[in-house]
Amino acid sequence: MNILVRRWQGLRNNYRFRNEALLKDDYLRRIRSMVIGEGMLPNGNILQMNYAIQHLPKEVAIVEIGSYGGLSAAVILYLLQKHQCDTKFFSTDPWIYESYTREGQQIAFIDGCTRITKANYHHYMKSAFMNAMQFLQPHQLPHSFEFTSQEFFKLWNSNETCNDIFGNHIQLGGPIGFAYIDGDHSLEAATHDFEQVDQHLISGGFILLDDSADYLQFGSATLMKRLKHDNRYRVVNRMPHYLIQKI
Ligand SMILES: C[S@@+](CC[C@H](N)C(=O)[O-])C[C@H]1O[C@@H](n2cnc3c(N)ncnc32)[C@H](O)[C@@H]1O
Repeated sequence: MNILVRRWQGLRNNYRFRNEALLKDDYLRRIRSMVIGEGMLPNGNILQMNYAIQHLPKEVAIVEIGSYGGLSAAVILYLLQKHQCDTKFFSTDPWIYESYTREGQQIAFIDGCTRITKANYHHYMKSAFMNAMQFLQPHQLPHSFEFTSQEFFKLWNSNETCNDIFGNHIQLGGPIGFAYIDGDHSLEAATHDFEQVDQHLISGGFILLDDSADYLQFGSATLMKRLKHDNRYRVVNRMPHYLIQKI
C-alpha cells in the first residue's frame, strides 16, 4: 500500500481515537483523581485499553504487569463492566520502590526523603492498591498478586492455584487475550514480560506496552522498535505508546 495512504489512514485513526467520547466519561474522569497513578496513565492508554477490550477474543484472561496504586486496574475493570465482559483480570506487582535514578536498590529510603523508608513505601502502595480496589470494585475484585512478573509467570506456566492478595483462591494459567505490560521498563525485564505473555497470547490477542513511544529511551521503547519487525504482530495504534495485536 502506498506510504502516503498508510500515513493518512494512521492520522485518521488517531484523530478518531483521540476524539473518543470515552474520555468525557464522568467516572473515568473522576477515578483519575481518586486513585494513585495519575501521570502514569496517559489518555491514549485508556483508549487503547478500550479498543482491546471491545475486540477481546472469548474465553481468555487479561493480565496486567505493574499495578502500582491501582489506576490502570480500576480503568480496565470499569471498561470490562462497561462492555459487559466477564473476562478474568489478573495483576501483579511486588510494590518495590523504583528510584528515579534506578539506584534505589542500594538506598533504604525514597528519593529525596530519608524519613520515608522503602519498606514503608511498599506497605503504603500495596495498601493504597487494595483500598482502591475494595472501594471501587468490591463486587469485581481483581486477582492481584504480590509477585514480580518473573515469579508470576512461573506460577502461570504451571497452572498453579493460589490465594490472591484479597484472599481469593484462583487458578493461574491459560490463554491470555490482552496484556498491559507496565512493570520494570528495562529492556531485559520488558522483553521477559513480552516473551512470557507471547507464549500464552492467543491469535487476535493484544499487548499494550507502556512507555513504548518512539521518542522514549526506556527499554520498553527499544523493545517496541524490535517488535515492529516481528511479523507475528501488527501495530494497531500508537498513542503515543503502542497497542499491538497477534496475527
Ligand atoms: C509505572 S508503575 C505501574 C502503573 C500502573 N500500571 C498504573 O498505570 O496505574 C510500575 C510498577 O511496576 C512495578 N514493577 C517493577 N518491577 C516489576 C516486576 N519485575 N514485576 C512486576 N511489577 C514490577 C513497580 O513496583 C511499579 O508499581
